[in-house]
Amino acid sequence: MIDFDVADLGLSDQGITRIDWADRAMPVLRQVRERFARERPLAGVRIAACLHVTAETANLMRALAAGGADVHLCASNPLSTQDDAAAALVAEYGVHVHARKGVDLTGYYVHINSVLDARPEYVLDDGCDLVNTLHSSRTELLDGVRAGCEETTTGVVRLRAMARAQALRFPVVAVNDTATKRMFDNRYGTGQSTVDAICRATHSLLAGKTAVVVGFGFCGTGVAERLRGMGADVVVCEVNPLRALDASMEGYRVMPMRMAARVGDIFVTVTGNRNVLRGEHFAVMKDGAILANSGHFDVEIDVRWLEGSAVGKRRGVRPDVDEFLLADGQRLMLLAEGRLANLSIAEGHPAGVMDLSFADQALTVEWLHSGQDELPAGVHDVPASIDQEVARLKLASMSIEIDDLTSDQQAYLDSWEFGS
Ligand code: ADE
Repeated sequence: MIDFDVADLGLSDQGITRIDWADRAMPVLRQVRERFARERPLAGVRIAACLHVTAETANLMRALAAGGADVHLCASNPLSTQDDAAAALVAEYGVHVHARKGVDLTGYYVHINSVLDARPEYVLDDGCDLVNTLHSSRTELLDGVRAGCEETTTGVVRLRAMARAQALRFPVVAVNDTATKRMFDNRYGTGQSTVDAICRATHSLLAGKTAVVVGFGFCGTGVAERLRGMGADVVVCEVNPLRALDASMEGYRVMPMRMAARVGDIFVTVTGNRNVLRGEHFAVMKDGAILANSGHFDVEIDVRWLEGSAVGKRRGVRPDVDEFLLADGQRLMLLAEGRLANLSIAEGHPAGVMDLSFADQALTVEWLHSGQDELPAGVHDVPASIDQEVARLKLASMSIEIDDLTSDQQAYLDSWEFGS
């Protein structure tokens, strides 16, 4: 019996087509799935996942199910669910899905609790809400959880804070921190999907605009690169001096937000912190400024200030765009209520890059289940061998060959005697 709560099972055919389309761009994950189907490394294992319910995630769920796992999935964001993919997972792939696009906060946590009702042995999280719920209101389940994986930077930051406070009760592997995730998904994925969201929502010309990117981590780097590629004049705001220097040497203008707020036409927050755009900044922005967030939570843009200070009501001017009229006459355009725009408006990162992150996830779950019972509670790295293997398989799928070190070169690298 499949236990589920999705918007409309009638969307499952559409979902199957969409999942299949994504699968074509996910050759590494497909190979993992095919091997899992033969070897069944996860036979009978109960897994609860809290991830964006997209076609790409559906292919990760298929891989875990092919490995024999009993998979329960809820959404890691109320707006990112693709209802057709959710329906297909239930109807075609036997996954217990609890996710509907647009649920309110209560519904969001009802869904998280529903997947926890499965008494998971492993948890896959994206943002740490599932792990947090386990440690706050579902503590009776903690002893049954063997380990977890975390998909995103924000989640890893929260987990490290839990570990520092000695609150984290099981080992969690920071899948986000692998090179095959951070260098590609965070950078090229966030870059492309954020620009995609801004274009879909506003139909604005980016060439010639001043775009302010707030945060120059892996995600911000990608957003800045892609906006520049579209012809925008990109300004970067940072609090970290090393990243600010990096942005400057990459050729971006770097300045504090109190200055950037006056010059930007488009603002994109990717910091993982709260109130990055706030009243003092809104007040000096240009008429028509576009505000988008691609950070995990909807805390980066102070939407409450906009709601409290706008003259009259917020006005929906296009799908996913709300206009706020300020006292001085400027109209500010907020995308997707300040939630992560790339997944709420666009379709998230393209499958070709999620292939890497989700192959990492599947192989990490297999590794955890292959006898890592001694891992202590805390945050752990993915084994380097998984990172290397995923990159190797991706290159092979792209028909790209690379060189091998000669034995002489390897001996040189292993030695210390040779100098100038
Ligand atoms: N995170 C970013 N993009 C995603 C996608 N397409 N599917 C699942 N999680 C994502």
